[in-house]
Amino acid sequence: MQKQREDLITVVNPKSPVSEAYRRLRTNIQFSGLDKPLRTLLMTSTGPEEGKSTTLANLGVTLAQAGHRVVLVDCDLRRPSLQDIFGVDNAVGLTTLFIEDRSLDLQHAAVLKETSVANLRVLTSGQLPPNPSELLSSQRMGKIIESLKAQADFILFDSPPILAVTDAAVLAQKVDGVVLVISAGKTKRDHAVKAKSLLEKVNAKLLGVVLNNVRADSTVYGY
Ligand SMILES: Nc1ncnc2c1ncn2[C@@H]1O[C@H](COP(=O)(O)OP(=O)(O)OP(=O)(O)O)[C@@H](O)[C@H]1O
Ligand SMILES: [Mg+2]
Repeated sequence: MQKQREDLITVVNPKSPVSEAYRRLRTNIQFSGLDKPLRTLLMTSTGPEEGKSTTLANLGVTLAQAGHRVVLVDCDLRRPSLQDIFGVDNAVGLTTLFIEDRSLDLQHAAVLKETSVANLRVLTSGQLPPNPSELLSSQRMGKIIESLKAQADFILFDSPPILAVTDAAVLAQKVDGVVLVISAGKTKRDHAVKAKSLLEKVNAKLLGVVLNNVRADSTVYGY
């Protein structure tokens, strides 16, 4: 039995108001892709520990629960966490695919790991490289993304904070849309503005923001 962290509230308690909020996020994303289908999506935030990975994981679960084939990719090659959230092995993963002569036939490479959620697979980080930004900006990364598209309807990419290192801005150019996670009471307003302008500078499509860590008693129900 896989061990999974309680961060996966959409698995542990799908009827909770928090899970409902993740489903609302799923619906918003499904409707954002009306003009151009939105299949690859990057999750980032201004700084550390604002809830990027938790949001990404739960969004992935709700998309999978709606019957979509989903792959989550850990592009945080500095502090990866998807292996812990889903309780899967991280001996091979994304970085394995950069090793020369490694096949990009993802089934064959056996890097996509099944999770306890049907339709949801994870590509964990793999061994951490000395040069994450270089790997993520390479042509090879573009090819990996193309191969992933043959494997799923939605591919969600986790990343490090956008104000800390260039990785997220680099990836933002390679995906259909970006979601910025804002942590209530933690993310600074000017940092959020800075993140937005960094994304604009690389012509990324900012789909919107997720407000995380909102107190339950301040949730507004109704219309
Ligand atoms: N809405 C929430 N309510 C309670 N705890 C949360 C919430 N969102 C995230 N957390 C917790 O906060 C911690 C950081 O979350 P998470 O790992 O998702 O952030 P992150 O932005 O990916 O961090 P990092 O910058 O290290 O990658 C985790 O322990 C997670 O369980
Ligand atoms: Mg994270």
